[in-house]
Amino acid sequence: MTNKTRVFSGVQPTGNLHLGNYLGAITKFVAMQREHDCLYCVVDLHAITVWQEPAELARNTREVTAAFIASGLDPKLSILFNQSQVAEHAELAWIFNCVARLGWLNRMTQFKEKAGKDKEAASVGLYAYPTLMAADILVYRATHVPVGEDQKQHLELARDIAQKFNNDFARQIEAAGHADGFFPLPEPLIQGPATRVMSLRDGSKKMSKSDPSDLSRINLADDADTIAKKIQKAKTDPEPLPSEEAGLEGRPELENLIGIFAALTNKSRADVLRDYGGKQFSDFKRALVDASVAKIGPIGDGIRRLMSDTAEIDRILKDGSDRARAIAVPIMRQVKEIAGFIR
Ligand code: AMP
Ligand code: TRP
Repeated sequence: MTNKTRVFSGVQPTGNLHLGNYLGAITKFVAMQREHDCLYCVVDLHAITVWQEPAELARNTREVTAAFIASGLDPKLSILFNQSQVAEHAELAWIFNCVARLGWLNRMTQFKEKAGKDKEAASVGLYAYPTLMAADILVYRATHVPVGEDQKQHLELARDIAQKFNNDFARQIEAAGHADGFFPLPEPLIQGPATRVMSLRDGSKKMSKSDPSDLSRINLADDADTIAKKIQKAKTDPEPLPSEEAGLEGRPELENLIGIFAALTNKSRADVLRDYGGKQFSDFKRALVDASVAKIGPIGDGIRRLMSDTAEIDRILKDGSDRARAIAVPIMRQVKEIAGFIR
């Protein structure tokens, strides 16, 4: 990446942040903050696409912010803020609603999963969710987006929207002096051994905030004993560990635990299997407990400490929002000019 890059990503304040969020997204955020210009957003406008109790929403927004900081994000290096404090996100999303086509949104698998059988009862916002996500990224003309695997399709849609906007308004964009289109086509960064962390109870389901079983996930706020208990109870199979990746075939629960361990210890899956091949699950699980407690334990402590001073969290979000707005406002002004709005 060159120094013309800008990084953006978002996390929804909809409940317990878990190991999937941490390994799939937040560790990547932290790794990028020194080299790049980064914005990390608590996407409260996305959260309300399904009902959120207002007091819970406020609490969860602060808790995600606390988790960001406890995981190593520095609010001075990165811009940390909540989406609803920068109105330009919603403003650009409306324009994108008029750029994106119904046919594009109809293909989104996350909508189908979240709306379930009763589509008629889903909110309009849940359907339009990906156009707001495209606006989140493009209102900063961000170029790189670290996310977990599940967001790949939404990123492709954001690229399609950027491309169509550039085409639809090509004449105006060129007249305004932009030789290569107005919006960059944002690139997803989906890398490493844990881009899709699965449930500890069922290797075919994604680890998720909304799984009714708390045993299915390790929450960033869990204490050491809880983490140990959940890993000890994690589903496995009776065979010993294989020495090579081919031996993970058809063993999704094991594959998941190997991926988690690799990500936590900065190793490849192949390295982990070389070390643990032929060993019993009990040995491997003990090492996994140690690695998880070493990484996640201090984050839980940090979250609890930060949450005891909500005024400080609110101050960080306000400061981040002011800095985000300073980038978004001039970009939005140009978008309006390009689209023919009188200002
Ligand atoms: P969300 O909690 O849905 O807002 O997701 C925030 C970030 O965490 C996104 O980049 C997701 O792709 C990522 N993420 C969520 N669940 C998982 C998972 N089970 N494995 C890996 N990444 C995940
Ligand atoms: N849709 C993302 C998720 O649920 C969250 C999100 C909203 C996001 N806006 C974004 C992620 C912009 C990356 C960039 O995980």
